[in-house]
Amino acid sequence: MTDLIINGKRHSVDVESDTPLLWALRDHLKLHGTKYGCGIEQCGACTVHVNGRAVRSCGISVGEVAGSARWTCRSAATARQA
Ligand code: FES
Repeated sequence: MTDLIINGKRHSVDVESDTPLLWALRDHLKLHGTKYGCGIEQCGACTVHVNGRAVRSCGISVGEVAGSARWTCRSAATARQA
């Protein structure tokens, strides 16, 4: 079990630590605002913010970001509109 803090809320996901963050977000947490495009860190469709830094979630593992404060791109867009 790995804890992820997304949009200020703690989520526990039962995935291997080397699982790409994108799959944990989409398949396990059903956060479909993060999109799948190429899967090889080229298109940017899966970009999320991790502690203020834009990262491509298809290329970073759950273990690398466990416990980090994080916002999805969808939430970042919503925050800009507020
Ligand atoms: S899906 Fe294209 S960069 Fe991640």
